[in-house]
Amino acid sequence: MSIDVRPSQDAATYLATDQLIWFGEVADADAEHLRLGLPEDQRFVADLPDGPDDLHSGIYGVRPMDLSVPGGSLVPIAGLTWVGVHPDMRRRGVLSAMMTDHLSRTREAGIAISALHASEAGIYGRFGYGLAAVTHQASVGRGTTFTAPHLEDEAAGISTHLLTMSDPGVAERMRACLLAHAPAFPGTVVGSPDFLTLLTLEPPEQLRDKERRRVIFARRDGEDVGFVGLRRTHKWDNARPSGTATVSAFCGGPAARLALARRVVDLDLMGTTKLEDLSIDDPLLGWLGGPRGTSDLQTWDSTWVRLVDLPAAWSLRTYEADCDVVVEITDRYAPWNAGRWRLVASGGSGSASRTDSPADVTLDVDVLGAGYLGHGIGGRLRAGLVREGRPGSYAELARAMRTLVAPEPSVGF
Ligand SMILES: CC(C)(COP(=O)(O)OP(=O)(O)OC[C@H]1O[C@@H](n2cnc3c(N)ncnc32)[C@H](O)[C@@H]1OP(=O)(O)O)[C@@H](O)C(=O)NCCC(=O)NCCS
Repeated sequence: MSIDVRPSQDAATYLATDQLIWFGEVADADAEHLRLGLPEDQRFVADLPDGPDDLHSGIYGVRPMDLSVPGGSLVPIAGLTWVGVHPDMRRRGVLSAMMTDHLSRTREAGIAISALHASEAGIYGRFGYGLAAVTHQASVGRGTTFTAPHLEDEAAGISTHLLTMSDPGVAERMRACLLAHAPAFPGTVVGSPDFLTLLTLEPPEQLRDKERRRVIFARRDGEDVGFVGLRRTHKWDNARPSGTATVSAFCGGPAARLALARRVVDLDLMGTTKLEDLSIDDPLLGWLGGPRGTSDLQTWDSTWVRLVDLPAAWSLRTYEADCDVVVEITDRYAPWNAGRWRLVASGGSGSASRTDSPADVTLDVDVLGAGYLGHGIGGRLRAGLVREGRPGSYAELARAMRTLVAPEPSVGF
């Protein structure tokens, strides 16, 4: 049965389809969420011939965003989002048709990479997305000590300032910090000005009795050098204040992060600080002396990366080791990537070219997505997830793609 995938012509039907799929409370603010979250020409719909009259069979959207890649370049990506299929139309290929559409449109637009956050971890591997950055969450007690002797001098000159995220000018300041620090923290995703504004808005339905989202800026010599998001909840335990401060998405250099970390474990009326969006190599975990410095370290998937245009993507980032490997790629949803490529990294730069030479390694394109931001993919050979022809060739590829420091997780989009 044919599935018609095309740009959305009608924001109201698009929104109503989304509201059914995500079964939350339907609110007036949803239209504002759509307006700020998705440019009109980046909303797409899919319809089955026997689909519902008043809604679409499926929808998806693309946020134009920038991604910091190893080496520090900020490259444009298609941030796939608002993906959903009408509950009565599922498992009939609607998502598959939308993914085919998304990948060819992205390629035609000259964008080499698509990225997303997945609602369920099992969905996107088959579409060529690899888990490129993981995220940690950890709780620490009030007054936790962070030890970082070689950052003390720099951190001493940094002050911290609490504001409400929706205050005028805050979204712009957060975006400026992200842009300034993204190159040093590959994996950082920088949203459009509208997207940052959206992050700061909290309609009453969403807020209920919660504290408005705050932000703490780190400043040195009158300039912003970092920030972190904050929300506190009250709790009283045997007449003692023991609230939780939830802290998300540190941005800034190491000394700014240290000053911010010290601030968020020293908040009156709080007992616990829940730290979100930490990378595997996050300095915070180092300052704590390892996982047992926290009470509940947990790990999830953060950014999934998909190479839409393999040769273009390969040369957008840098490499910390050399490789020269012939890779046989399988790619069901972007067949232009399939076949044999010679992937070279030399002196930091990458180049990919077509070749007829025998394959050293055979793998699905999702493996290159998983390694693209520098996250280790070496273990996949042992796990039987890739096939090696020439002994040692997969290690060569995996070493070249891996970065010294693990990639940053990104904020949900
Ligand atoms: C996830 C969702 C979009 C899938 O849409 P769909 O039209 O049913 O998917 P398709 O029929 O095209 O299925 C494509 C393949 O993905 C698989 N698949 C679909 N949903 C899956 C899931 N949640 N987990 C694992 N596999 C899934 C299908 O089994 C199928 O496999 P096959 O290629 O081996 O046959 C749909 O279930 C949905 O709207 N869920 C709720 C909203 C949501 O989670 N959106 C994703 C936001 S990131």
